[in-house]
Amino acid sequence: MSDSKRPGQAKGGFDVRDFWEGKILEWERGRYSATGGTGGTLERLADRASDSLRFRMESSAELLAPFVKGKRVIDMGCGTGLLAPKLLAAGATHYTGYDIAESAIELANARAKSEGWADRARFERASLADLGPLDGDVVISLGLTDWLTDAELERLFELGGAAEFLHATSEARPSLQRWLHQAYCYVAYGYRTQGYVPRYLETPAIAAMARRHRKGPVHVWRHRRLSFGAYITSLPVKDAALVPERP
Ligand SMILES: C[S@@+](CC[C@H](N)C(=O)[O-])C[C@H]1O[C@@H](n2cnc3c(N)ncnc32)[C@H](O)[C@@H]1O
Repeated sequence: MSDSKRPGQAKGGFDVRDFWEGKILEWERGRYSATGGTGGTLERLADRASDSLRFRMESSAELLAPFVKGKRVIDMGCGTGLLAPKLLAAGATHYTGYDIAESAIELANARAKSEGWADRARFERASLADLGPLDGDVVISLGLTDWLTDAELERLFELGGAAEFLHATSEARPSLQRWLHQAYCYVAYGYRTQGYVPRYLETPAIAAMARRHRKGPVHVWRHRRLSFGAYITSLPVKDAALVPERP
């Protein structure tokens, strides 16, 4: 994996935080609501292809449910915290969500209050780069890893320490959907974000990175409805395959 095309937090006038402040709420409305967002033609096209993201939200909660009872969960790049009520309902004692976008954190806090689970959740605006070791039992992320440099990915595992993890990634395997996704990202915004677009990761390389910071097996979970997505996890989730160690 190479970092060569990935800008840092801010480079040449482009700022990752500004990007997400401007995007995340519309992105969530488009991807998770049945009616779609209010964006332009390209956004509406992408919204139609959002079944895999809705499936990701549901399947990650189901797979995690047996492992979060009595545990403190940390969600990196949590957006508006849509996973929080599902994991708390599954028995997690506490959920902490971190996200670089203030707009997402404000909405998450408002929702937690109005839905009555604010006493078991905390949302904080923070970028991965701002954080120290994560004080939780299970560290998760959905759709964050694709946006990180190798150094940031390494940091994600380092900060997690001995905690269990489950990260949803996009795999670098050949597929028509992946190619269409890549083309969409460049046409929709990549031309003006100086190459800040999601990338596709090699599972053996991520697993090796994870093992450098946390000893133990690494599993991968794939499903047709996740398209080119996969979960990389330390947890023995149902129907997961072991990622073999490289010789
Ligand atoms: C594709 S969205 C996924 C949001 C949510 N996890 C979901 O699945 O609906 C990626 C999220 O990661 C956040 N993010 C991106 N880079 C980040 C960073 N370096 N530190 C913390 N959050 C980041 C964005 O603000 C955004 O909310």
